[in-house]
Amino acid sequence: MAPLKQFLMIPGPTPIPTEILAAMNHEMIGHRGPGFSKILGEVIDGLKWAYQTKNDIMVYPCSGTGGMETAVVNTLSSGDKALFVNIGNFGDRWVKIAKAYGVAVIDLKFEPGKAADPKVLEAELAKDSNKEIKAIFMQQNETSTGVINDVKALAEVAHKSHPEALVLVDAVSGLLAADLKTDAWGLDVVVSGSQKAFMVPPGIAAVSMSKKAWSFYEKSTLPKHYWDIKNQKKFADKGQTYTTPPEPLIFGMHKSIEILKKEGLENIFKRHELNKLIVRAAFKALGLRMLADDAGASPAVTAVFPPEGIDAEKVRSEIRNRFGVELAPGQGEFKGKLFRIGHLGYVDKLELVATIGALELIFSQMGAKIEIGKGVKAALEQIK
Ligand SMILES: Cc1ncc(COP(=O)(O)O)c(C=O)c1O
Repeated sequence: MAPLKQFLMIPGPTPIPTEILAAMNHEMIGHRGPGFSKILGEVIDGLKWAYQTKNDIMVYPCSGTGGMETAVVNTLSSGDKALFVNIGNFGDRWVKIAKAYGVAVIDLKFEPGKAADPKVLEAELAKDSNKEIKAIFMQQNETSTGVINDVKALAEVAHKSHPEALVLVDAVSGLLAADLKTDAWGLDVVVSGSQKAFMVPPGIAAVSMSKKAWSFYEKSTLPKHYWDIKNQKKFADKGQTYTTPPEPLIFGMHKSIEILKKEGLENIFKRHELNKLIVRAAFKALGLRMLADDAGASPAVTAVFPPEGIDAEKVRSEIRNRFGVELAPGQGEFKGKLFRIGHLGYVDKLELVATIGALELIFSQMGAKIEIGKGVKAALEQIK
């Protein structure tokens, strides 16, 4: 049987450009020497460009979840009150991390598929008249439901109501897919990961810290060693990481930033926005229901229900086995009910059109009453 070409259409890890793969294919160098320091320093400068910040950024050898844990343990103390704007599975994850460390969590949950309403956050914060809430956590992009939050509006509400509190953002799947102005919006801690819009394999998380976040660090008593961000900063200042770094990933990040800088932030955002429009136009034309409405629709990932009577997991296995297309499953309460198509990072618009075509064929052959070509036509019409 001929080998199937793979189309990795999941919301991270994304496909990797050949130049990045080539840059990672490099002999190991001394990680306490000047060559490595120069590369890491440039990666951190590049991250500051992507974050739109002058704040410190520390790089950890870990997945995005490690970055989320870093944000908690370096800012809070046991018993501190913190509010979590929670619009899905990754909101749940941050709540679980904080609870594991004894943080007094206020879990502000929103209906799945909807972005957080800043007015609801405002009302919840208003209840805390003694200003006991020390920190407000949120996702920029909730990957499990395909929803993007209005971080600017949420941060504004947080600052106005609780000017002393920190605002912490999980931008693991949102950074570069959509605008995130760390400094202009007053975001104290921002977490990102290598495997999303940076188009690098998983294994690196970056965490930014504002001056205010550093002042919280000084008071924070939660236990930490590997995640101790002051220690990580001490090494970052020398162009090193505390522990032995995953060098190929650092080389990959270095190349990624070079490629992304050439493209420019505005063009990167536009590219992701177009991917979103292509996918949504196609699914609308096919009469499919998406979990997110237009207002909250993510530029990074779309969660969609298959046509009536068709099994989402069967769709995923058919499209994988017949066309090499890898789609992501539903998460949490949506397991088995929907599938997700990633459109961030190194995903090309024509791969999206091809995936939509393959889906149409599979839906139709599984007995759905859909008109083959209708989704593809709507998708192509988005491409000017
Ligand atoms: C929004 C968001 N936060 C956090 C994570 C966790 O990242 P990781 O799986 O790299 O630990 C993910 C992963 O998909 C994510 O999408």
